[in-house]
Amino acid sequence: MIIIGHRGAAGLEPENTLRSFKRAIDIGVDMVECDVHLCKTGELIVIHDDTLGRTTNGTGKIQEKTFSELRLLDAGSGEHIPSLEEVLQIANSRVAVNVELKGSGTARPVSDLVQRLTLEKRFSRPQLLVSSFDRHELIKFRQVDTETNIGAIKLLPIVSLTTIKSIGASVVVINSKWLKKGFVNRAQGSGLKVFAWTVNDKDDFLKMSDLKVDGVITDFPDLAKKYIKSND
Ligand code: G3P
Ligand code: MG
Repeated sequence: MIIIGHRGAAGLEPENTLRSFKRAIDIGVDMVECDVHLCKTGELIVIHDDTLGRTTNGTGKIQEKTFSELRLLDAGSGEHIPSLEEVLQIANSRVAVNVELKGSGTARPVSDLVQRLTLEKRFSRPQLLVSSFDRHELIKFRQVDTETNIGAIKLLPIVSLTTIKSIGASVVVINSKWLKKGFVNRAQGSGLKVFAWTVNDKDDFLKMSDLKVDGVITDFPDLAKKYIKSND
């Protein structure tokens, strides 16, 4: 079972900051998860919400701010809001990255960035998983990128595996609260990997181990390392 650092190590550092991703990597995660939006000037930035208030000292909507304006903000502990390029560079050759397409219109720009970094040998596509709650964004991504692994995120266990497979996804990402053995078996039996989010305490780590999911997405990668045996 692999360990995926949610927004880096969101339980230990300000979420979706370079500091958070570095902390998760230092702890020894296999993959870091980050959320991406487009800002007004077209750069891909790493932040969860479509507004600034919860995680920075700014206010307003991301899509109405320029990259320069966003870079002046404090995203916690003096960290700036990272660009996706910075996050991919930090992860390069060290851990895999799960890029969650949060904002609409992010599929094509993410594909373009990954293609450029791959050509420049600054990132390797097998390291990447692109996921989203938004099925249409995933379909757009698959139209422009036929190689990168795709993950379909679902809130509920009642999902159509056929639909997920038809998008070209190889991973299904499920809220751990709703996860049942029958679903894990059916998904894995159809060739999908199952990642559970957000798994943050001992009981849930053990439960996910019993369910034999393929990955856990956690705010506390330190606890995940403690409670999940590496050969699980
Ligand atoms: O991909 C799992 C998880 O990141 C999805 O929810 O809201 O934390 O981005 P959220
Ligand atoms: Mg996310």
